[in-house]
Amino acid sequence: MAENKIFTLSQVAQHNSKKDCWFVINGRVLNVTKFLAEHPGGEEVLIESAGKDATKQFEDIGHSKAAQTMLLKYQVGVLQGYTIKDTPSFQETKKKEMEAYVIKNEGKLKSATLFEFFVPLLVAGSYFAYRFLARPDDIVY
Ligand code: HEM
Repeated sequence: MAENKIFTLSQVAQHNSKKDCWFVINGRVLNVTKFLAEHPGGEEVLIESAGKDATKQFEDIGHSKAAQTMLLKYQVGVLQGYTIKDTPSFQETKKKEMEAYVIKNEGKLKSATLFEFFVPLLVAGSYFAYRFLARPDDIVY
């Protein structure tokens, strides 16, 4: 698989421009050329890390889980000396997230439906019980 191709840091260092921008994060070699314009933190910071190991910079920002998943999409290989265990592809990761989302929402939906059904029933029931118990002709003046 192309994602498991081994690169040395000097090979990565050759891709150090705006038109050809690679860097390394946690042993993953990433080609982020197409991502530069999309990066929420701007392209400049990425270009500054071009051709280098950007793990520290990436982690110092405290990137979200979404950002950590997003980077898998740009992986072209692995840095020499690193073994990345359990490297699910971007699609697999996304699929798992979607499944988790569907399951979570299914539970929510069921309880919401039950709630929406019983609450109005309870309110209507209480109203009629009140009307029945407090009929005006029962009241003795
Ligand atoms: C492929 C690698 C990267 C991806 C997919 C990525 C993705 C993102 C995303 C999604 C955000 C929005 C905030 C969040 O969700 O965390 C973000 C913000 C940011 N990123 Fe990255 N990023 C990458 C690499 C880097 C690198 C290497 C640096 C630093 C050299 C960096 C610097 C920043 C900065 C400064 C922000 C703005 C933070 C803020 O406004 O608070 N990013 N990035």
